[in-house]
Amino acid sequence: MTDQLDPKAAGARRLKDKVCVVTGAGQGIGRAIARRLGQEGGKVVVAERVEETARKTVGELTDHGVDAIAALVDLSMYAGAEDMIDQAETAFGRVDVLVNNVGGTIWMKPFHLYSPEEVELELERSLKPTLWGCRAVLPGMMERKAGSIINLGSQSVRGLYRLPYAASKGGILALTKVLAMEYGRYGIRVNTVSPGGTDISDRTTSRLTIRPGEMAGDLPEAEGNAYREEMFDDIGNQQAIRRRGLPDEQAAAVAFLASEDASFVTGDVINCSGGQS
Ligand SMILES: NC(=O)c1ccc[n+]([C@@H]2O[C@H](COP(=O)([O-])OP(=O)(O)OC[C@H]3O[C@@H](n4cnc5c(N)ncnc54)[C@H](O)[C@@H]3O)[C@@H](O)[C@H]2O)c1
Repeated sequence: MTDQLDPKAAGARRLKDKVCVVTGAGQGIGRAIARRLGQEGGKVVVAERVEETARKTVGELTDHGVDAIAALVDLSMYAGAEDMIDQAETAFGRVDVLVNNVGGTIWMKPFHLYSPEEVELELERSLKPTLWGCRAVLPGMMERKAGSIINLGSQSVRGLYRLPYAASKGGILALTKVLAMEYGRYGIRVNTVSPGGTDISDRTTSRLTIRPGEMAGDLPEAEGNAYREEMFDDIGNQQAIRRRGLPDEQAAAVAFLASEDASFVTGDVINCSGGQS
C-alpha cells in the first residue's frame, strides 16, 4: 500500500515492479492501458497478433524507461494464451496482472443476417481470448496466492446490431463473477471494465479485419452504414456525458483495479461509459 499521507507517493507508482500482461496492446485501448500500467511502474508484456504495432508499443514504453517485451501470439486458441504466459514468466519470472483486452465486434447488423461462420468468428474474437487468458494465467497466480485479472467488457450487452459480440461480453461478465468467487481464496481478484463508445484514433488494424489483411464486407454499403448509424445514435442517446470516451479514461479504470487501491474489489464491473449503463 502507498502512504496516503505522502502526496508524492499517493497513486504515483501503484504498480511498481508488478508484471503486467496486456493483450491486444498494439493499438487502441490496449495500448493506452500498457502505457498507463508502465507509467505506474509496471513491467509490461505487450501480447499481440500484429508484430508491427506490438513493436511500436514496446518501443514507446522502453523509450520511457519501462521494462517491456512483445509476446507475438494468437489468443483465439489456448496454445496462444499458454505461450503468452510462458513468455511473460520467462522474461519477468511471474505474472501479477493480466488485462484481457482483445476483442471488438467485427460486424454490425441484425442477428438474422449473421452466418453461422460469422457468429463463430465473433466468439473467437471477443470471448475466447479472455477465456483462454484466464485459464492460462490462473495456475501461476494460485501458486503465488496473488494476482489481479481485469477483463474488458462493453456496453453492447444492452445495444443493437452486434448480438454475437454482446453474447461474448455477457459471457465475460459471467466468467468475471464466477472466477472471483472461485479464486478469491487464492488471493486472486477478477474484475471487468466495461467501456462505452471510445475514440480510437491510432487504429491501424481495422476492426473489420478477421485476420491481418483480410477484410470482412458483406452488406451493401448503404445498408451497412444505416445499421452503424442507428447503432451509434442509440449509444449516444443513452449517455449522460455526450461524447466518446478516451482510451486513457479506460486505462485509468484498469490501473485502479490492477492496483492495491482496489484490494477489496472483486467480481465487480466499472462501467466507464459516460453514464450509459
Ligand atoms: N473502442 C470502443 O469503442 C470499445 C467500446 C466498448 C468495448 N471495447 C472493448 O475494449 C477492448 C479494446 O477495444 P479497441 O477498440 O481498442 O480494439 P482494437 O480493435 O482497436 O484493438 C484490438 C487489438 O487486439 C489485437 N488482436 C485481435 N485479435 C487478436 C488475437 N486473436 N490475438 C492477439 N491479438 C489480437 C488486434 O491486433 C488489435 O491490436 C475490446 O475488448 C473491445 O471489445 C471497445
